[in-house]
Amino acid sequence: MKKLMGSYKMEKNFKNDFPIFKGKDIVYLDSAATSQKPACVLDAMRDFYKKSNANPYRGAYGLSVEATTVYNNARQSVADFLNAKESCEIIFTKNATESLNLIAYSYGLSYLKKGDEIVLTILEHHSNIVPWQKISKQTGAKLKYLYINKNFEIDEKEIEEKITKKTKVVCAVSVSNVTGTVNNIDKIIKKAHSVGAVAVVDISQSVAHSKFDVQKTNADFVAFSAHKMYGPLGIGVLYGKKELLEKMSPFLMGGDMIEYVYEQETTFAELPNKFEAGTQNVGGAVGLEAAIKYLNSIGFKEIEKHENELLSYAYKSLKKLPYVTIYSPEKNRSSVISFNIKNIHPHDVSTMLDMANICVRAGNHCAQPLTRFLGIDSTVRISFALYNDKSDVDKLILQIKNIYEKFKKYIEG
Ligand code: ALA
Repeated sequence: MKKLMGSYKMEKNFKNDFPIFKGKDIVYLDSAATSQKPACVLDAMRDFYKKSNANPYRGAYGLSVEATTVYNNARQSVADFLNAKESCEIIFTKNATESLNLIAYSYGLSYLKKGDEIVLTILEHHSNIVPWQKISKQTGAKLKYLYINKNFEIDEKEIEEKITKKTKVVCAVSVSNVTGTVNNIDKIIKKAHSVGAVAVVDISQSVAHSKFDVQKTNADFVAFSAHKMYGPLGIGVLYGKKELLEKMSPFLMGGDMIEYVYEQETTFAELPNKFEAGTQNVGGAVGLEAAIKYLNSIGFKEIEKHENELLSYAYKSLKKLPYVTIYSPEKNRSSVISFNIKNIHPHDVSTMLDMANICVRAGNHCAQPLTRFLGIDSTVRISFALYNDKSDVDKLILQIKNIYEKFKKYIEG
């Protein structure tokens, strides 16, 4: 199906790939919170449970070996997706939050001390702030922030000045879940390495929208959740360079992350098992692998073209409304736009949009230091995925106009 979107010809209506839209007449603009799932992901998971389910690594019988193979094939697919050198550099976790906690506890606690500095961008999600605050309190290392300018971007000068010889860890989100700002990750990683620091990159908000190559960027640690990239809830990934993961202590203790357990002491398994305690989410890994196949079958070139057209259309349409304030950059942005309507609380806006079957998120988006820095409590956030099209934006804009008209007399006084 060819559909006209401004000058861009949308080759396919991706909505057809997502069963949820067959049963519901909704405009889903909350993919930054979690994306919808294509049929191929749901089918792959159902197939696993129907045909191959057993506890991986535990049994010597055929079905358990099959579950182990399926699990490790998924690991290899993630390694290929990120262009990791080896699949043992991929650790499955519950989500990006667990991955980031793992880095903070297993790396931060062992390798940071008083006098050291942890540099974070002000665009970070709480999951890449709060664990480091805890580590900072325990080790005496200081937290420092890279702030954004009026265009919601981090200036190169900020990176050059704040990352110093004292810096031991630099944490940066690839794309902000509030403003949609695309950070200059290459520059941040290069600067981190030039002072001997490790670079931790949270790619949760970019993983479904653009390619991230761990070798090209030379990132030391990378975290993301599957559920924001068309995969299932409950499975996430930590990538770590092998030499770093090898020297780190395990984060969670329990079954199958061990080599030998004595009454008083334990030796630990090799990578990746050392970091995967307890029975693993094989069904989730299978779903993640299917999501990767889905993304690869479309390709990031096509994805970026489609989503960037849509983002520009939404940005321009919102900008035309004089009572709307936008909190997203004009350029260097991806998949997300935050805004507020003059004198109407974002929660009220989101409730009224919901009454018109439009799903958006309102609040501080788990980024309170950022909203505080912006001088606001909260925003309305719209976020896009493959299944959105221009008609979704048109419905949103129409409803924003309706909301404003309805409240105008109270707002304008
Ligand atoms: N981190 C997710 C969001 O931004 C939940 O909505």
